[in-house]
Amino acid sequence: MAGLSLGVLASGRGSNLQAIIDEIEAERLDATIRIVIVDNPDAYATERAKRYSIGHMYIDPKGFISRDEFFKKIAEELKLRGVDLVILAGFMRIVRKPLIDAFPNRIMNIHPALLPSFPGLHGQKQAGDYGARITGCTVHFVDEGMDTGPVIIQAAVPVMPEDTEDTLSERILKLEHRIYPEAIRLYAEGRLKVEGRKVKVEGNRPQDGYIVNPPLRGA
Ligand code: GAR
Repeated sequence: MAGLSLGVLASGRGSNLQAIIDEIEAERLDATIRIVIVDNPDAYATERAKRYSIGHMYIDPKGFISRDEFFKKIAEELKLRGVDLVILAGFMRIVRKPLIDAFPNRIMNIHPALLPSFPGLHGQKQAGDYGARITGCTVHFVDEGMDTGPVIIQAAVPVMPEDTEDTLSERILKLEHRIYPEAIRLYAEGRLKVEGRKVKVEGNRPQDGYIVNPPLRGA
């Protein structure tokens, strides 16, 4: 399968990367991952890339005089491989201008909260500590802010009284693994149009862009 050329940036475990690989392998997503770039030499995402013979690369942020230079290097590597869409999959850095300018409205991120609530680190814990009843996850295009770009898909889950950060994260993660490949699929089908801060899903079916799951107990 060829389709859309993806470049994935990751810092850790890479379960979202795996969810995307699984959809490609199952031929439900017409895309090819050209490269997985990590900023952490121990990122398990690299092992996942190796398992599927996907090109991978560690770029050490400390090897650059500035963050802009680091992101310039990433943009160069992605361009070299003909990447169409950049996927941040647990990439724990704020993307800087050189990468954003190289891929305008062509970088996606997943965040474990319903943005604009609880941006930044530990979105799941922030929602639990705040006492939110509903939280979830968001796939959005990336701009220069922290988790501020136009929203593509959101999915909601209840926060249960007995939840810990781990149980809530696990419930959210299951939906992350559904909405990220779905957002990429919509992009691959040419159905996402960014209008200001809104993303229009063309050929909209009522369910596009929303997932609410699981139902509350007893419902
Ligand atoms: C995911 O929960 C993702 O939403 C979150 O990191 C985790 C990465 O997991 N991202 C952020 O918090 C970004 N602000 P993964 O490495 O298993 O995909």
